[in-house]
This record gives sequence, C-alpha cells and structure tokens, in this order.
Amino acid sequence: MHTTKNAGLTFDRFFATTERHRWELETGIDWAAIRPELITENERRVLHGSALVESFTPGYGADLLTAFSEDVEMSSFLMVQLYEEFKHFHALRRYLRHLDIEVSDEQITRKRGERVVYTNLLVPLLKFGISELFTAIAYREIARQTQEPVLKHLSTCISNDEYRHLGWYVSYLKGYIKKHEIGVTEVNEALEHYEHQGSDAIGGDWSDHWNFVGEKYTRLEPYLQLKRLLRSLVGKGVKLRSMGQGTSPQLRDP
Ligand SMILES: [Fe+2]
Ligand SMILES: [Fe+2]
Repeated sequence: MHTTKNAGLTFDRFFATTERHRWELETGIDWAAIRPELITENERRVLHGSALVESFTPGYGADLLTAFSEDVEMSSFLMVQLYEEFKHFHALRRYLRHLDIEVSDEQITRKRGERVVYTNLLVPLLKFGISELFTAIAYREIARQTQEPVLKHLSTCISNDEYRHLGWYVSYLKGYIKKHEIGVTEVNEALEHYEHQGSDAIGGDWSDHWNFVGEKYTRLEPYLQLKRLLRSLVGKGVKLRSMGQGTSPQLRDP
C-alpha cells in the first residue's frame, strides 16, 4: 500500500466537512426563479465551456482512480470529488436548459474514451490541484459579476466545493513532496508536462475557453496564488511559464 500521509487533512476530516457543507441540487437551488433575460452572452459562453469540462468527470475518474488505486486516502477523496464534479455538470446542464442551451451527449462523450496514463504522480497532483485553484476563482468571480440571482447562488455553491477540493490537494501535495523529497527541479519538470485538464475534455476548443475565462474572470489571481503556494512547498525558482501556454500574453507567468 502506498498511502501518502496527508500533511494535515485526513479523509475523515475532509468527508465530515463535505457533509456539513453539502448543498441540495433539487431543493437548494430555486430553478423556477431563473431569469434568463439577465444572463449575458459572456455568461452563456463560460457556462457552456465549464459544463463541458465538468462533464468529463468519468474520464478524469478512470485516469485518476487507476493512478491512485493503491492509495486508500487519495482514492477515498477521489470518490467524493468525482461525485461533486459530476454534480456541477448536472447542475450546469440543467441551468443551461433554462437558457435554451443544450449540452449534447455527443459533446460529452466525444473524448471520454481516451485514457491518460500517469507514471509520475506529481503530474496529476499538480494538474488537478492547480485546476481546483482556477475553477474556485472562476466560479467565485462568475457569482460576483452576474446579475442573475440563481446563477449567483449556484456558482457560489460550486466555488465553495472547488475551494474544498483545493484544500485537499494542497494538503496532500505537502505530504507527497515531503515523503518523496521533491524539490523545485522535479516540480518544474512536472509543470513542463502540464496539460490543462480541460484540454482532455474539449480538445481544440479548449484554449478559446481558457483564454476567455482568464480575460473575463480569473485574471492573474490564480497565477500569483499558485506561485506563492509552490514556493512555500519547494522554495524559490518555480517556473509557471510552460503552463501559461495557450493563455493570452498578459496572463503568462507574472
Ligand atoms: Fe467542478
Ligand atoms: Fe473541484
């Protein structure tokens, strides 16, 4: 068994927090109160792209559960995370239907059968941990900017889930980096192989979505936080430049 001891957050504690903050999709979201006339074109676009990325959860799940099959703590966490990511998709798809936007089964399953095999576990840990940071901030900003009250509420619920996932990844990464004595060189190597999680899901259209979310919602905040976080884990010298590829120039490695 290769369970990595989490630096501070056990699955027991993570799950207890998850249960305490669980939101109800049927009864907690006032679907009948949606006001489509308050939704902007930007919001339609970002919600559609985000729904597609969340819809890929069964694909991410197959890759991650295989990679961490011998790690009891991590696979326990993944079961809960995957449920919540799929709930995000289910909620966004339903919300988009109220705007007469359909996410088709063909779009959802287009790339789902393609598997990614991870030999160096630092790669998926960074890839999925970093994604949580970006999505937590993006949903938080969608909630802050929108004039549509139901989207404000839904996006806040999703953002809170993503921040909770982020907390797990940060804690797990701390333990993993310590256990395997990983330094800045290994982190930079893993970042060089960085592939955006969303590109697995939506392929060539991904960079459009990524750039759009960066310009309209996240701006530089996730890069600055990420740099601080990685510096606190492995020291100075982390290079984010390679993961900025596909992002508009002003958003590259600040
Ligand atoms: Fe999500
Ligand atoms: Fe998440």
